[in-house]
Amino acid sequence: MKTLILFVALVGYTQALSYSDVLEEEWNRFQIDYTKFYQTEDEALLRRLIFVDNKRRIDKHNRRFMAGLESYEMGVNQFTDLLPKEFQSQMLSSLNITEAEGLIEFRYSAPRDVDPPSSIDWRAKGAVTPVMDQGEICESCWAFATTGTLEGQTFVRTGRLVQLSAQNLVDCSSTYNNNCGGGLAARALKYIMDNGGINTESSYPYQGTMQQCRYDSRNIGATVQGRSLVKDKSEANLAVATALYGPVSVAVDGTGLQHYRSGVYNNPNCTNDLNHAMVVVGYGHDSYDGDYWLVKNSWGTSFGESGYIRMSRNRNNQCGIASYAVFPMV
Ligand SMILES: *[C@@H]1O[C@H](CO)[C@@H](O)[C@H](O)[C@H]1NC(C)=O
Ligand SMILES: *[C@@H]1O[C@H](CO)[C@@H](O)[C@H](O)[C@H]1NC(C)=O
Repeated sequence: MKTLILFVALVGYTQALSYSDVLEEEWNRFQIDYTKFYQTEDEALLRRLIFVDNKRRIDKHNRRFMAGLESYEMGVNQFTDLLPKEFQSQMLSSLNITEAEGLIEFRYSAPRDVDPPSSIDWRAKGAVTPVMDQGEICESCWAFATTGTLEGQTFVRTGRLVQLSAQNLVDCSSTYNNNCGGGLAARALKYIMDNGGINTESSYPYQGTMQQCRYDSRNIGATVQGRSLVKDKSEANLAVATALYGPVSVAVDGTGLQHYRSGVYNNPNCTNDLNHAMVVVGYGHDSYDGDYWLVKNSWGTSFGESGYIRMSRNRNNQCGIASYAVFPMV
């Protein structure tokens, strides 16, 4: 009898260690962690298949990471039940660089005599507000990139950190060609210039869908005098601009970011086709993985390093990080 119980227990134990059982457990945990509810059985089945496929990709990449062949780790997050194409159409929207450059009145190039510090982290100086989650319905990365750079630049100028309303931009800058299908920091900043200000987040909180414009001039959190584009797609210019003036809005090729968890995102396949806006809030050097940009995203804190990504720096403008770097004059 004892032998039989032991045998049953052993069978149970070895089964629990099989890859598919581990996957099943991860699938269950994923649905709880990210409060996923699927409409139909078929939908749940499809999502499970995609999750398993993505999980295999993540595990394969992480074996390379453990062997020192990759500079960053992948992990499960809210996007693990999406096909790459779904992730891209939901979270990214491509940007016409020729058009976008033409919108900006000033160009910034670093003065010759400036030697920027070897690293900087504006979070430690109190210039950065908490990471937000744009949600699945509204492609509003451009709005958070705008509030992020304006919050930082305003802090550097005034010493006060005020979180600004991305919802204000989503609701009120549609005549500037910004909406939940995509937009540009340059156009959002122009709206703020013309409008005479942007509301605070606390007076006009984020909702994640487009609503009626409810801007109220009694709740202005910041104003904008002009816009500058970092010149020549130069990472050196971007570093000096970041060090001297504060956080800078950037646009990157985010195609490969779906499973990013931690480390320096070095992806040689990354292109210069820009499709996602974020905020550079610093830069530095990692002894293992090299130079990086410290980048604030708007996909919630469950994504990446508590909502941040460290992107490759000084690797020939990888992912186009310095191609469309914009900051306001405040
Ligand atoms: C990008 O914008 C420029 C200038 O407005 C325009 O000439 C060009 O056709 C656009 N390119 C694409 C791919 O839409
Ligand atoms: C880059 O592309 C190659 C060829 O398509 C692929 O095998 C490789 O996994 C890609 N690397 C990354 C980091 O996406």
